[in-house]
Amino acid sequence: MVFIPAYYEFINPVKIIAGKAALDNLAFELAMLGANRPLVITDQGVVAAGLMQLVADAFAGSPVQMGAVFEDTPPDSSDIVVNALARLYRESACDSIVAVGGGSVLDTAKGVNILAGEGADDLLHFMGADILKKKLPPLIAIPTTAGTGSEVTSVAVIANPEKGMKMPFASVWLFPDVSILDPRMTLTMPPKITAATAMDALTHAIEAYICKQKNPLSDSYAVTAISLIRDFLPAAVKNGKDEKARFALANAALLAGVALTNSMAGAIHSLAHAVGAVCHVPHGVGNAIFLPFGMEYNLKKAGDLIAELLFPIAGEEICLSTPKNRRAQRAIDAVRELNRELNRLCGMPITLKDAGVPKAKLEECARIAINDGAHTFNPEEFEYKDALKLMLAAFE
Ligand SMILES: NC(=O)c1ccc[n+]([C@@H]2O[C@H](COP(=O)([O-])OP(=O)(O)OC[C@H]3O[C@@H](n4cnc5c(N)ncnc54)[C@H](O)[C@@H]3O)[C@@H](O)[C@H]2O)c1
Ligand SMILES: [Fe+2]
Repeated sequence: MVFIPAYYEFINPVKIIAGKAALDNLAFELAMLGANRPLVITDQGVVAAGLMQLVADAFAGSPVQMGAVFEDTPPDSSDIVVNALARLYRESACDSIVAVGGGSVLDTAKGVNILAGEGADDLLHFMGADILKKKLPPLIAIPTTAGTGSEVTSVAVIANPEKGMKMPFASVWLFPDVSILDPRMTLTMPPKITAATAMDALTHAIEAYICKQKNPLSDSYAVTAISLIRDFLPAAVKNGKDEKARFALANAALLAGVALTNSMAGAIHSLAHAVGAVCHVPHGVGNAIFLPFGMEYNLKKAGDLIAELLFPIAGEEICLSTPKNRRAQRAIDAVRELNRELNRLCGMPITLKDAGVPKAKLEECARIAINDGAHTFNPEEFEYKDALKLMLAAFE
């Protein structure tokens, strides 16, 4: 049954340009935003995949030209990188930002945009929610992974290596102005990254659908995202050049991102953030590992909602042949089956042990998980003992 809360808010102010040769609109879109000297931020994986040539081509013959290019964003980028990039932005007299990459690049760009807009030099002063009070310089996001949805979220997650934690930044001013989904940008993603990033998107959609801040608009986005991932993820992992599957997953990540930013995540994300911060488990891998355990953990409070997800997760036939009182557990089983299939196809880890987490670190991870704000709207209460139990369950 469709659930409509007594009160909710929903926002998606991002202009979406999606489809064949969408990237060719880049210079025009910058000009429309009054910008003509963007700082272009990317990383070495994107450069090695040859994607920066497509970006350079998009500027050819235009009065809009790159003010500076930074190609060394590290995975899970930090406040130190963001602060250095803000200096580059100022020294190169840039007036806007173009982010070309996965969530690490997109979130780094959002951090740099905060400092550029505020004329500040230390990102740590802006941590938290709703600190920013005015519009930032133009930001165009060009996702090259299909996962985080950062291209349509008001959130950035940036590491603080000193404290060994990931810092959240949330503000309506962090939405990019424009997001460009060009199927050419994700064709080169290796199978393991394809699998993990899509599992991040699946986790966004599922957590958004069951969390306490759910609403009918984000539910619609979440359900469509889940169906697309079910239909196209194995195909994209088997054949990375399958443009239809790639574009479907790019859409799924975007849809799940809209759901996430309006409904919020849950305990699964807190657990993934913790193993990411302590043991450098990639964000999508962490989410894939914890997803079935987190759904099980929420069965008591959100069993009916999880049951509703059997249709998008497993398809019509399985849903209709499963008795109503078995659907929630069947949906969790379907997620486990998908994880196992991805493990078979590309070696995506499905236990913490395989993801390189030492058993001795589980208590530290559990402590960090409960201090992570992502679980604020989780259906079930979430305390240290619960986090540790889930860490142990997901270990091997
Ligand atoms: N802002 C948000 O709303 C939000 C939501 C979820 C996660 N995140 C954050 O996003 C980050 C993870 O992002 P991610 O999962 O996209 O991974 P990522 O950006 O770290 O990229 C993973 C790897 O894939 C490579 N890569 C990216 N695109 C490629 C392509 N097309 N071809 C070949 N290689 C490519 C990169 O070079 C990198 O080595 C984490 O820091 C996480 O906390 C943010
Ligand atoms: Fe995520």
